[in-house]
Amino acid sequence: MKKVFNVLSNYYDLIYEQKDYAGEAAYIVQLIKSYSPKAKNLIEFGTGTGKHAFHFCNSGFTVKGVEPSAEMLKAVKEHHPKLSLQQDSITSFKSDELFDVATALFHVISYLNSNSELIASFKNVHKHLKNDGLFIFDVWYSAAVLTQIPEERIKTVQNDYIEVIRKAKPINYWNRNVIEVAYDINVLEKATGKTHNFLEQHEMRHFSIPEIELLADITGFKLLKAEEFGTAKIPGPDTWGVNFVLRKK
Ligand SMILES: C[S@@+](CC[C@H](N)C(=O)[O-])C[C@H]1O[C@@H](n2cnc3c(N)ncnc32)[C@H](O)[C@@H]1O
Repeated sequence: MKKVFNVLSNYYDLIYEQKDYAGEAAYIVQLIKSYSPKAKNLIEFGTGTGKHAFHFCNSGFTVKGVEPSAEMLKAVKEHHPKLSLQQDSITSFKSDELFDVATALFHVISYLNSNSELIASFKNVHKHLKNDGLFIFDVWYSAAVLTQIPEERIKTVQNDYIEVIRKAKPINYWNRNVIEVAYDINVLEKATGKTHNFLEQHEMRHFSIPEIELLADITGFKLLKAEEFGTAKIPGPDTWGVNFVLRKK
């Protein structure tokens, strides 16, 4: 799975060009301000092409972006003097620096499928936070995934140079809380008419709130908040992404 984003990163930003990174970053900053008003430095795991990170820098934070995919890092377009980037995973990242806040946004934690990987990752985040540091992340929410059941979907996006058609076919592994999404991606180069086909698989785990609370508890965190990502609504069967705020105990 880890290799998935190497291919995807070339057109990742095009696929998600409608995503409101500025608005999402503002939502996270407001959570940080309310729980840790003095926070100054932030580590972002699974920073991808660095879009939230850029807005965090503009809000005054010094940011370290950690991302396992070299290709995603290569696709970072907006660099910032307050942003440093490092190729690594949330599980194995090591640094002597400690942070006020750790984030993992846009379902990064859902890419961790096994309990052992999750426990190791949460413990690693804990190790790199200052006392009372915050860990903020969003995940796929079981109540919504199991009510709505993901279906086959097609997304088409284009710019002046390429057209991308992405077909997504999900398989539900009911007893693992995992949805495997097989992507069939066709990229057309408009100038030459050449097409490229990629097949990719994402294994996404979904979570309940008590499951995250238990995971937090055994890795040294206290659950402060679980709400719909971006809206702060109480999660329900129509809430695909739930955002969690944990505090290091
Ligand atoms: C849907 S993308 C989100 C990227 C970025 N946060 C954003 O909002 O655009 C998921 C990201 O998680 C990263 N990822 C997957 N497994 C990871 C791991 N073990 N540690 C850190 N990041 C991981 C992927 O490489 C990818 O960049």
